[in-house]
Amino acid sequence: MLTHVDGAQWTTAMPLADVLAEVLEGSDEGLLLVDPEGVIRFASPTALRHLDLRTNSVGTPIAECHGDYRLARMLTGAARTEQVIEAHWSTADRELSVRARRVPRPGAGVLLWVRDETRMRHLEKMRRDFISNVSHELRTPLAAMRVMTETLEAGALNDGPAAQEFVHRIGLEVEQMSQMVEELLELSALEGEQRPVPDEPVPIVDLLIAVDRLRPLIEDKEINLVFDVPAGTPPIRGDVTHLQHVLRNLVHNAVKFTPNGGTITIAAAEVDGEVELRCIDTGVGIRSDDLARIFERFWKADSSRRRDGEGSGLGLAIVRHVVAAHNGAIRAESEVGRGTTFVVLLPAWEAPAGASA
Ligand SMILES: Nc1ncnc2c1ncn2[C@@H]1O[C@H](COP(=O)(O)OP(=O)(O)OP(=O)(O)O)[C@@H](O)[C@H]1O
Ligand SMILES: [Mg+2]
Repeated sequence: MLTHVDGAQWTTAMPLADVLAEVLEGSDEGLLLVDPEGVIRFASPTALRHLDLRTNSVGTPIAECHGDYRLARMLTGAARTEQVIEAHWSTADRELSVRARRVPRPGAGVLLWVRDETRMRHLEKMRRDFISNVSHELRTPLAAMRVMTETLEAGALNDGPAAQEFVHRIGLEVEQMSQMVEELLELSALEGEQRPVPDEPVPIVDLLIAVDRLRPLIEDKEINLVFDVPAGTPPIRGDVTHLQHVLRNLVHNAVKFTPNGGTITIAAAEVDGEVELRCIDTGVGIRSDDLARIFERFWKADSSRRRDGEGSGLGLAIVRHVVAAHNGAIRAESEVGRGTTFVVLLPAWEAPAGASA
């Protein structure tokens, strides 16, 4: 038999009350009914959770179990009107969205719908921060380029050596902005990527090749580059291009933050069926309260922020993504003034059973 009530219809042997109980149990939105005397008459499990109410709150006045004045105000407000009243509250650990409406039946009271929007608000904040970070990172090079073009227009164009210097610096700013756009595109591609990590054996030597591109920088700063990879270290299971990128990012940072004449060691070892890669530098180090933040997008230590044209703080965010996509883990250890070590754990490649060595 098909039954209808106010537009809903159902055909099941289950009593309506049981169906409703199931629906309320599974709903993200909590439901609370408070009678005209302020006594809680009904509370779904989700409502109890969102409002931090005890499970035995039903039958007691709401003022006794929930002290928030905003809730009391909403209830009295809703009792006086036919309209739905809406509000957003922040509590110590939550962002709630609450709607209240008087039940159009004498003496029934007010119904409250409560939704936990903490996660959504957090995502909205991240999106706003992201846009403001991108704009901020673009504003600095753009402002520099504006000043330089204005100076050129104002006459420096006719001063050969000065003109050359300005054009060179404009080129550097353009380079810096292009790199940031590249990194942003890469990050967004990685974040949107759903495909599983390719199951290829990646020998460590194939990764070390990635560091070659940094040789001019390394030689320029007279940095000693040491490789410590014992024979017999197994290959990593993953994607060679992405893994090369990880190592290049880490070594590039090590070069940037290590003074002239320092040492950078790239070590690999097998640890419990995993490959542990280490990038060890003798550089400026990272303060311990900064260590927790280095993998955030756009995060830079204050000291590196002050240096112009030195990256946009996206490198390690990309590294973290790639490592996570490989089911690996990354951490950093550092001591200010002594140096930093990045430790990356990645799954070792095992030959499929039955394959010849
Ligand atoms: N080896 C290191 N030694 C000291 N500080 C480091 C090191 N690696 C990273 N950091 C700190 O972490 C910050 C974030 O690094 P990340 O690679 O994400 O950004 P970046 O190098 O500043 O810019 P990008 O990589 O986008 O060019 C750096 O700005 C720096 O403050
Ligand atoms: Mg970097």
